[in-house]
Amino acid sequence: MTDVEQKQTGYLTQKQRLLALFLNIAIFLILSRTVTNQFIPAAAGQRLWLLSGLGLFFLTLLSAPWFRPPRNALVNSLTSALLLSSLDLSSIATMGMTLNVFRWLAVVLNVTTCICAILAMIFGDADVAQQPKRRYLSVVGYRVSDLFGRGELVFTPPALISILGYYQNVPEQQLWLFFGWAFIILVRPVELTLRLIDEIRSIAIRKDNAQCLGTISRVDNPNIIRVALTSSAAWHSGKVVAACLPNATQVNVLCLFSHTEESQMVGTGLCHGVLSPPIADAVPGTVYAMATPLDAQTLVKELSGYDGGTDLVGFVVEDSNISTIKFEVSPDVPLEEGVLTFCRQGNQTVFYQILDARTAEESFGKNPRGKHVVSAAQLGCLDARKGFVKYGWLPSMNSPVFVPKKPIAFDFTAPQGDEFAVGKVPGSDIIVRAGFSDVLEYHTAILGVTGTGKTELAFDIIRQALALGTKVFCVDFTNEYKARLAANNPQLLGLALKQAAELDQKLFAVETGEYGAKKEKEALKKFVDEIRDPVKKSVEDFLSSEGASLGIFELPEITNTKATLRATELYLSSIMDWARKNRRARRVLVVLEEAHTIIPETMGAGFDSDTQWVVGRISQIALQGRKYGVGLLIISQRTALVSKSILSQCNTCVTFSLVDKTSLDYLSNVYSQAHVQTIPNLRFLEALAYGKAIRSERPIIIKLDYDPAKKKACDALNATLPTDKKEDEQKNDQQTK
Ligand SMILES: Nc1ncnc2c1ncn2[C@@H]1O[C@H](COP(=O)(O)OP(=O)(O)O)[C@@H](O)[C@H]1O
Ligand SMILES: [Mg+2]
Repeated sequence: MTDVEQKQTGYLTQKQRLLALFLNIAIFLILSRTVTNQFIPAAAGQRLWLLSGLGLFFLTLLSAPWFRPPRNALVNSLTSALLLSSLDLSSIATMGMTLNVFRWLAVVLNVTTCICAILAMIFGDADVAQQPKRRYLSVVGYRVSDLFGRGELVFTPPALISILGYYQNVPEQQLWLFFGWAFIILVRPVELTLRLIDEIRSIAIRKDNAQCLGTISRVDNPNIIRVALTSSAAWHSGKVVAACLPNATQVNVLCLFSHTEESQMVGTGLCHGVLSPPIADAVPGTVYAMATPLDAQTLVKELSGYDGGTDLVGFVVEDSNISTIKFEVSPDVPLEEGVLTFCRQGNQTVFYQILDARTAEESFGKNPRGKHVVSAAQLGCLDARKGFVKYGWLPSMNSPVFVPKKPIAFDFTAPQGDEFAVGKVPGSDIIVRAGFSDVLEYHTAILGVTGTGKTELAFDIIRQALALGTKVFCVDFTNEYKARLAANNPQLLGLALKQAAELDQKLFAVETGEYGAKKEKEALKKFVDEIRDPVKKSVEDFLSSEGASLGIFELPEITNTKATLRATELYLSSIMDWARKNRRARRVLVVLEEAHTIIPETMGAGFDSDTQWVVGRISQIALQGRKYGVGLLIISQRTALVSKSILSQCNTCVTFSLVDKTSLDYLSNVYSQAHVQTIPNLRFLEALAYGKAIRSERPIIIKLDYDPAKKKACDALNATLPTDKKEDEQKNDQQTK
């Protein structure tokens, strides 16, 4: 038993026992001197109580204070028996007979103890299986000798006989000695005082230094401890306490959270750094609250390596991998999808974005308790130029996970060169940038249900394009662009009412014509050839003019789908012809609003061969555009209905909330499954962005800034829209919902 264990169980240490032995001997000698006037009484009978007392102290304080081996019991009982039997009681005047009877009874007890001790010693090594009887005798012998071999039992009879028999002449001495024996042997005042001093000292130490909070019930390597708390009030998240680990090292512990387990409170904490100064007298396995603990923020700063202010929210648990980590948090930590977290790996700060959380049960000591396990996808390290850059490894088990406090102290996320801000990482000030050249060069898609902010984002991109001297050609049948982009002097391109009506009529004639509608087809071709030149001319004028300009392609409302497609094809063909001829003289951005109506998915959708041809032609233009500096920006709330061959060419994809399975299935080719699962949960102005143009090497959830001016402009426009258009939109809304 170590000193510490003895202290815990109330035993005195070796040194204290030695001290107690000397003190007790001194007290006995003083008692003897005071009562009898001699330190050691001369007469053998009168001396006996003193010798018995000394024997008792040696037995209980030196040889075996908490465990009596049978040989000790044997020696003591034998000594006592010999002393008692050799006593001459004949000189005792009164009660001689009674004392004699008492003496022999005590001798019998001593002899019994001796026999039992001998049995225990002889059969002590008997095998349980082979010699059960001997084993039994040894155990019984041990128990009896242990019980009757106790110092108080062995040495009290000789002392009593000595006091009662040999001091009859002076009853006062008799009384004092009797009281003295009874008090010192039964109450053990010396040991009691020593123990009390010990306790008072430790209370005093703890008062100005440390107060016990509980005991460690589990250590999860390398640094997580679970503590069975004596008082739950003392365990606050963010508080720093001290722990003396089972290996006796003392560490700082940052409290994370506490929970109930059966009738007990259990606290979870994270150990960090050696405690300085250490707690004197700390017991291994114990946790203490300190009067002057380390500042939690200092500790968190040390752990996170980030001094912009952070909260430690949890720690990494099993099932994590390089792209997605899982971490445990307390159910009451306020976190949500999209929140930015980070871990330290070496001297790198690696960011993760929360995608999901689930509840879990942990059978810690077979007592289930609820906890939340959060999944967060890796964004990587933050680089001034490239944004988030992938990191090639995962944090180790139990690594702490932090959430940076706002505002975040990174000042290098502002757009540079041709970049523009798409949005921010939710709950932070980190700007997510997109490079306009990449938007244009690699085609871009903005997807999501109606009313999530797609068109406003497209407007932002268009404004950026114009600012960078790009020609922007918008195909918009919603009437929004013309009004909302009025400040950018849009040129209206498109067929005149008369031309559109004629085209409409000719297409209809082809559809209904007899004998393969040969005549009608010729008429249509002639008409298209006729209008091709003016279209070409207007496109050329638009593209050749100096500087940036915005062209908006519109059609009169009467046109049907076929005419729309045909006319669009005419214009796009002209743009391509011009671009081909003038090889990258101009950068052109073609914006297709409500793209599902312009480039519908024709596969299996029941379109006739003419329409299929037209869509195929538009697709071709789209696909070849890159070579000639013509980029596509596709906006659609009906992902499932947009031509997949074109969509798959969009290397940048900004996805707002979407719920329909077909669209989500398609998007699982673009994003990981974990990311696709977040798409239906995205809120207003939240989007999942990924691709060439986005300054993040992994998909990232972004939150677009709320701009009241946009809302106002949009609402003002809605008020003036014709009602049938609004109804149309509402119908659309319902379908997509
Ligand atoms: N960044 C923004 N700040 C404020 N309001 C916005 C923002 N983006 C969109 N809105 C508003 O949300 C509504 C839907 O936006 P819109 O871009 O038309 O969505 P979608 O094109 O996806 O249908 C509009 O009223 C618009 O003004
Ligand atoms: Mg829109």
